[in-house]
Amino acid sequence: MSVNVLFVCLGNICRSPTAHGVFQQKVHEAGLADQIYVDSAGTAAWHIGKSPDTRSSAAAAKRGYDLSLLRARQAIESDFKKFDYILAMDDENLQNLEAIMPADYSGELKLFLDYCSTSHRQVPDPYYGGADGFELVLDLVEEASNGLLNVIQQRL
Ligand code: 4NP
Repeated sequence: MSVNVLFVCLGNICRSPTAHGVFQQKVHEAGLADQIYVDSAGTAAWHIGKSPDTRSSAAAAKRGYDLSLLRARQAIESDFKKFDYILAMDDENLQNLEAIMPADYSGELKLFLDYCSTSHRQVPDPYYGGADGFELVLDLVEEASNGLLNVIQQRL
């Protein structure tokens, strides 16, 4: 059995690529790379084809995560056919996904931070802020990735 996980933010250049890279690495370290497929997307089309924001890549690289091969794409309706977990970074992303979700989707469309117990409900958008915002994204994403991996491991 395999499980497909899609992380979604607005631009697919900051938060969701960070989640993609962090969770992918944890999956790899757990020896589950052949059972868990990981991808990311944005609800907006602005940055299609672009590499992650250099501030996200640099902050991730300092913690040992490689985002260099990732390229932005837009979330589409057919993602609901493929992905068992579609995890939004904030409420706006979640609402945008709900708007294209087929009525018969039987997977999990949730906020990513539902998988951890931090006081944050959402991963704050770091795009217009300073370096601290990118570190906070990593802190939250690392914690939620651990929680998500635990949940998925129980169903493999
Ligand atoms: P992301 O951040 O949704 O985490 O990728 C953003 C990236 C770009 C923009 C906004 C948020 N933008 O306005 O271009």
